[in-house]
Amino acid sequence: MTGLSPAAPRRPLVSGNWKMHHDHIEALHTVRDLGLRMKPEDVAQVDVSVHPPFTDLRTVQTLVEGESIPVALGAQHCNDHDRGAFTGEVSPQMLARLGVRYVIVGHSERRQLFGMTDELVASTLRAVLGQQMTPILCVGETEEERAAGQTEPRLSAQLEAALRGLDATRLAGMVVAYEPIWAIGTGNSATAVDAEDACLFVREKAGELAGADAAASIRVQYGGSVNPENAADLMAEPDVDGLLVGGASLDAAGFLEIVRASRPTAARRRG
Ligand code: PGA
Repeated sequence: MTGLSPAAPRRPLVSGNWKMHHDHIEALHTVRDLGLRMKPEDVAQVDVSVHPPFTDLRTVQTLVEGESIPVALGAQHCNDHDRGAFTGEVSPQMLARLGVRYVIVGHSERRQLFGMTDELVASTLRAVLGQQMTPILCVGETEEERAAGQTEPRLSAQLEAALRGLDATRLAGMVVAYEPIWAIGTGNSATAVDAEDACLFVREKAGELAGADAAASIRVQYGGSVNPENAADLMAEPDVDGLLVGGASLDAAGFLEIVRASRPTAARRRG
């Protein structure tokens, strides 16, 4: 299968979603370990982000800025307002002030465990863009939807709800993560071919919503049981532009192996 625009190389983005793991001391050790292991060539052609819990963000920000560690700061979620009476919430503006660059929006755990609706995903995405940060919009089907042949309709509905009406330039700069729910935390990753089919579908849908240029520029990640062994195969697919890594991002050495497997070497890239 061929990507829509093999002529326009997209810089891979490998993101570590720590979920509710690593307190700020553990975060400090993990990111310092990552920084000590990283070589300039590891990140010459790959963007890397880490998404620790909110309580770790200031610590990680200080560390990556102070030590010039080439890792972008990311968050896992935020509210869709900039301020107000929203007890327990954190705003996009607060994240932007900390130097956060990427915010995961609509992760399936937020949707399933915390009732995040398509409407809230859409407004959160716009609030993140409003603070000049890059959303990583998560979409993906359940096991039942997959078994019923409903993967593409499900992705299509999620993408329309989140992206319809966004201008093409904004959409072009975004990241979408295709994360099949049955693959998250199960050790049962999608095959590279299935990941490619879904990522290409996401790209085509972006094209339908915002035109060919946006489709060619938007970065589409795969997520769900990515590990150092399967990363290179997934990244060899022309429409897989990066990886959203949960469990395997908690350990610096393993995460760095995934980053290295994502480098777009000529031999690896078929697109
Ligand atoms: P996993 O999680 O890599 O542990 O499957 C991925 C995610 O939920 O983003």
